[in-house]
Amino acid sequence: MLSLKFVAFAIAYLSYTSIALPIKREVPQEHSHEPILTSVRASLNLNNPDKIVDPVFALLGDAAAKAGAGDITDLSCLQQAVADQAFTNAKAAGDIEGMTNALIFRALERNTGKVGLASALCTQTAKNPEIAALTQHQDPASTNAAATNKAITLELAKQIHSIGGNPIDAIKSGTFAPGDLNDATAKGNSCDDANDPNGCIFTQNLLVADATEDEINAAVDGASSSGSATTSAAAAAATTAAADSSSTDTCPPAVTVTVTSAAAATATASAAAAAATTTAAATSSAATSGNLQTFTGALGGVTAPAVTAGGRGFVVANNDDFLNIAAALGRSCDVQHNQCANAANANRNAGFTVGDCDQQNNSCHAAAQ
Ligand SMILES: *[C@@H]1O[C@H](CO)[C@@H](O)[C@H](O)[C@H]1NC(C)=O
Repeated sequence: MLSLKFVAFAIAYLSYTSIALPIKREVPQEHSHEPILTSVRASLNLNNPDKIVDPVFALLGDAAAKAGAGDITDLSCLQQAVADQAFTNAKAAGDIEGMTNALIFRALERNTGKVGLASALCTQTAKNPEIAALTQHQDPASTNAAATNKAITLELAKQIHSIGGNPIDAIKSGTFAPGDLNDATAKGNSCDDANDPNGCIFTQNLLVADATEDEINAAVDGASSSGSATTSAAAAAATTAAADSSSTDTCPPAVTVTVTSAAAATATASAAAAAATTTAAATSSAATSGNLQTFTGALGGVTAPAVTAGGRGFVVANNDDFLNIAAALGRSCDVQHNQCANAANANRNAGFTVGDCDQQNNSCHAAAQ
């Protein structure tokens, strides 16, 4: 069926390629990972409330992306919005491959106007914590790109593993060898071929792997797979948190630290339950200096864990580190919600319910926006 949507897409896309290109040159590579795009398109089309015209627009620079962004107005978040909705749809369908491709899509490099220019980061929090944990690859000629892109790929591997996919697939999110910073065509070493269903970056062997299989296995080592795509959001969040706290979050791996953090989380939850039992005024933990988490709600004395600058960007105390602050603050809220729900479940007389924890979680996430 030649739908209106397709016609609108074709017109918008043709006007991008034939009119927008000569005016503002973007590095053309939005079709380099074509199979990922194809899979995400199928997942997104199952339910597309924001009327995004096509996932490919999310990989274009802002000027071109605007034409296909539907109701999404923050263009630096279009890629996340596409991945988030595709992930939600694939998850509802129990489609692990679709979920995996949505995660990979979130991590693909976006076109920018110049070799070496990094794309803007999205500062909104995705609905799915697995998507929220990720950000896009950056131009390999941009500052610190090798380290940034490796961290992105290892995080992607952990998220793929957490949903029961193959973490080695994270390598597919990789990009090209760095281009010449003085190249006025902005072309770099990229390829772009919408007619190669296997993806020209793979067919032409242009992908530069960010990490080895051994490094990926080490990053996910010890994390247990949920193996189910139909777990509830809360259970999935808990699984993700558990996977993260039992896996190695630092490089090189520091197993003792992660064991301690898992124990600490349990201790905090039971301490909170005990505090609630005695109905004593709950004391929140001492303020951490440099804490970027400003949410102060603390049912049962359980505060949202501190978020501080560090690690790959922002560290959630006793949990994980993130590339962007929105993801870190969101994780802090999720950790608080899990501990709050545990405390409520552990003690019927706690004075608050899991429903109260849900409300607190919503306020926490709202404060993080
Ligand atoms: C926490 O709140 C966020 C934002 O309102 C929501 O997306 C998420 O599903 C909530 N988590 C739980 C476990 O209810």
